[in-house]
Amino acid sequence: MRSSIIYSAALLAGVASALPTNKRGDFSPDNVYFPLANGFPNPSQDQIMAIQKQADGTLPNGPPPPTLSPEGVTNLKLIALNELFEVAFYTELIYNVTNKLHGYDLGYGHEYVLDTLTAIQAQEELHLLNANGALQHFNQEPIQPCKYSFPVTDFQSAIALAGTFTDVVLGTLQDVNQIFAKNGDDGLVRAVSSVIGNEAEQEGFFRLVQKKRASSQPFLTTSARDFAFTAIQGFTVPGSCPNINTIPLKTFKPLAVVSQNIQPATQNIKFSFAKADAGTEDWASLSVVYINQQNVPIVKSLQNPNVEGDMVVFEAQFPFDEFLMHGLTIAAVTKGSGPFASADAVAEAAIFGPGLIEID
Ligand SMILES: *[C@@H]1O[C@H](CO)[C@@H](O)[C@H](O)[C@H]1NC(C)=O
Repeated sequence: MRSSIIYSAALLAGVASALPTNKRGDFSPDNVYFPLANGFPNPSQDQIMAIQKQADGTLPNGPPPPTLSPEGVTNLKLIALNELFEVAFYTELIYNVTNKLHGYDLGYGHEYVLDTLTAIQAQEELHLLNANGALQHFNQEPIQPCKYSFPVTDFQSAIALAGTFTDVVLGTLQDVNQIFAKNGDDGLVRAVSSVIGNEAEQEGFFRLVQKKRASSQPFLTTSARDFAFTAIQGFTVPGSCPNINTIPLKTFKPLAVVSQNIQPATQNIKFSFAKADAGTEDWASLSVVYINQQNVPIVKSLQNPNVEGDMVVFEAQFPFDEFLMHGLTIAAVTKGSGPFASADAVAEAAIFGPGLIEID
């Protein structure tokens, strides 16, 4: 059992681009996952019926709301980009487990895990069809799939990664709902809230499989759209997303969480970023900011900044004991020290991020 899992968009991106492009000729030559055998992401009516059976439920069959704001369009595009990546991931994970690839032979629990993953895969397919369908209804381009690469080669790390990106989604859909509500798109809040519940059920399963307590914290960590947008790109082959440029969100520079196996205690955490990305050498003008639960973002100064080759390596206090920082923490490096009232205010001032820290 791993007591904490640390991933950062930077590390993921670094590992992903270092992978050979043809890892398994029979499944994803050249990192191309789509179209799936069932026609996804453009299934026929019959194929949609089959996906619904696999998902244990249907697409919402009521009419879409009468209008959609420009911010609402961005919300749906981000959801679509995320769901496509998730479907690629679960499709490959199911392949690996089904074929008992090295590192994916589960023994006990094999049937139950596959049955759950198969439902999750189809449920994510329906989330995508719902988001892209709404975009089309409002005369917007549906989001097209990218090429992907995942930095995992065994079941436990695949599930830990799923648990981490699902936590980011659980935080980001809070932001999406708030933006819908603010822009008069309240007609979409109910359906997205139902998706938050579905993703949280998945998260409970991932936590169980990691032998973590099933429920992580009373108020799940929030996020902002730009952080999810950046994190998803850590799994895409650079330049392979046909219309990601139609999504007007920010991509941050990579922030690596260098410390591993972070324990639930107040301590200093080590980070690094590329010196050339900072736009300054006045390290005191930057801050480390942590987003955890529904609390006001926590601002800390960079300690012992040290230029090592092209990288700046530094530490920052992680005040676990004061704030009981269980579950996901999103770290960012901002220009200035705030104070920041919300995750969106952090995204506004962030240069580097998101560093993703998971504590049991
Ligand atoms: C599936 O297994 C292959 C080969 O080990 C690996 O490259 C890939 O990242 C794995 N995918 C997932 C989602 O576990």
